[in-house]
Amino acid sequence: MNVLMISPGYPSEMPLFTRALARVGANVIGIGDGPQDGLSEIAREALAAYVPVKLADEQGVIATVREIAAKTRIDRVACSWEPFMILAAKLREALGIPGMTVAETIPFRDKEIMKQRLDAAGIRTPRHASSTSVQGVRDAVATVGYPLVVKPIAGAGSADTYRVNDEAELERVLPRLRNVTEVSVEEFIEGDDFTFDTVCVDGEVCMYHMAFYRPRALIARDNEWVSPQTVSIRDVDDPHVSNGVKMGYDVLKALDFKTGITHMEWYRKPDGEAVFGEIACRAPGAKLVDLHNYSGDCDLYAGWAEAECLGRCSQTVQRRYNSVSIFKRAEGQGRIQSIEGLEPLLAEIAPHVCVLDLLPVGAPRRNWKQTLLSDGTVILRHPDLQRTLEMADKVGTNLRMRAG
Ligand SMILES: Nc1ncnc2c1ncn2[C@@H]1O[C@H](COP(=O)(O)OP(=O)(O)O)[C@@H](O)[C@H]1O
Ligand SMILES: [Mg+2]
Repeated sequence: MNVLMISPGYPSEMPLFTRALARVGANVIGIGDGPQDGLSEIAREALAAYVPVKLADEQGVIATVREIAAKTRIDRVACSWEPFMILAAKLREALGIPGMTVAETIPFRDKEIMKQRLDAAGIRTPRHASSTSVQGVRDAVATVGYPLVVKPIAGAGSADTYRVNDEAELERVLPRLRNVTEVSVEEFIEGDDFTFDTVCVDGEVCMYHMAFYRPRALIARDNEWVSPQTVSIRDVDDPHVSNGVKMGYDVLKALDFKTGITHMEWYRKPDGEAVFGEIACRAPGAKLVDLHNYSGDCDLYAGWAEAECLGRCSQTVQRRYNSVSIFKRAEGQGRIQSIEGLEPLLAEIAPHVCVLDLLPVGAPRRNWKQTLLSDGTVILRHPDLQRTLEMADKVGTNLRMRAG
């Protein structure tokens, strides 16, 4: 089977998905921005061929892929990077091959259409409206009410996403939205940010995981001193969260999702109500795939590749661990000057650490506004959730990276 993989080198999980395709026996042809020698070794080794393109130039990519297909039959088009999910669907339609169409993909991209579809299925979404003009936003605000969220209709990574509590804040936020062509205005839901992530085959959920962001995404994004955590939970059947699982299944059914990987976010209100957030028909980013693999002793990369290429999924999820990623942000600006507290910390938690990947002394800090990964990643796991969180907080506070 020949699989065309869009952007096999970026974001950082893509080489692992590309390798997974090769491992299930696919002949993988990569197309992406940038030259072949810019790809990581994992991606290069997994690819049978690579053709550089400008992904933003949709017509150009379609023409190039038609040329490739004239010489080599393409059986599948695979993509797991949000901005190019529609491009992938257009390529499938251009080549007449199976997989998600444009019409099937749009409800996973357009946050207004997404919520309209779910409303029709009786799923609890935040009150919402969309708009392409400043006056339209004001009208939407009047129907949705404060506090609310304004965000791009097809955003990612919390970019251009604002909580707005009153009129004065709205006036401050409106000018910042000038570059966004269409926004979604939503009732602000107090609560926790959860995920529900799956691999499906023919509409059946074969693997699923759930995680929560600690603190909520917007708080982590706005406060540099926070080292954000994501927690993949072991006890997904706990009544505390099981309504989120049910919502996840209902959402997939309402959007008629068939085969591939999905990443849903939902909010758990203090009174326990589950409210839908968003869903994408691609893998989650920011190491969440790895996190789920550590918590479930499974391989989501392989599960996805099997689903895409073979129409089955032989992976089983074991529920023995909670796992947590902590993205460390250094204190101060400039280059990393010192890493403190690591030895005593490891003396206590080393057996539970799965990943320890900190920027070395001398390296420039990453831009904390632009990268979720910040200045270092620690992943650990433990069977007990409380103990997992305690250890994560020690990584957050006792491990200190100083920059200057
Ligand atoms: N209606 C809402 N109520 C509360 N928080 C929200 C709402 N919409 C978005 N957020 C916050 O903003 C974050 C980013 O919004 P989201 O819709 O997930 O967009 P993105 O595609 O950028 O991830 C969410 O994780 C959540 O923390
Ligand atoms: Mg989100």
